[in-house]
Amino acid sequence: MRKTKRLILRPLELSDYENWRQTYSMLASPQNEWDEGPWKDSELTLAKFKALLKTEKSWRALEKFYVYGVFDRNDGVLLGEVRLMDISRGIFQNAYLGYRIFSHFWGQGYATEACRAVIDIAFKDLKLHRIEAAIEPHNKVSIKVAKKLGLRKEGLSSRRLQVRGKWKDMLVYAGTTEDFKGRSKK
Ligand SMILES: CC(C)(COP(=O)(O)OP(=O)(O)OC[C@H]1O[C@@H](n2cnc3c(N)ncnc32)[C@H](O)[C@@H]1OP(=O)(O)O)[C@@H](O)C(=O)NCCC(=O)NCCS
Repeated sequence: MRKTKRLILRPLELSDYENWRQTYSMLASPQNEWDEGPWKDSELTLAKFKALLKTEKSWRALEKFYVYGVFDRNDGVLLGEVRLMDISRGIFQNAYLGYRIFSHFWGQGYATEACRAVIDIAFKDLKLHRIEAAIEPHNKVSIKVAKKLGLRKEGLSSRRLQVRGKWKDMLVYAGTTEDFKGRSKK
């Protein structure tokens, strides 16, 4: 768990069910190709939520994948999520960073603030060495977030990820502990 000036980052828990259900049922229609619209009632049952919690708990237990809900620190509103994915240990010590803020809350610095906190978790708590974000070249806002986070552009990786059924070239942005040494999180 991490607190920032405006946010709390933590895994979802059972008491979040109503908050989660309402949030996902009331999402705006997708604002761009990376955004997701509202979920159907059948996807938002308590049984489905419990299954999601169970899955995320098992990922945490394996120390492979962490999902953090992004909550407004004042009123508990669920604003989005940040993920540390496919953690590699051994000689790599890397996690892939994923982020999403629901469109009602875009443009207020939440993604940047939330990702900074999660990068801090990755380096300080999980003792990882490297964080990577793979971004489609025309996802300009996401690139802006990566740059604001201080991630370095490493280059274009051809046909790196299968997104919406197609193998896509992705821009790789990354940072290691050395890049972040001495930087304060805001
Ligand atoms: C990408 C995303 C997480 C950004 O969330 P956010 O909370 O709006 O981001 P921030 O407010 O921290 O914005 C970072 C910068 O982008 C700018 N920005 C945010 N939304 C913008 C928009 N729609 N148009 C132009 N600029 C925008 C912000 O103003 C800020 O720049 P600034 O500091 O110069 O003002 C959000 O748009 C999103 O969830 N998109 C869909 C999922 C996605 O693309 N995830 C990333 C996959 S790699």
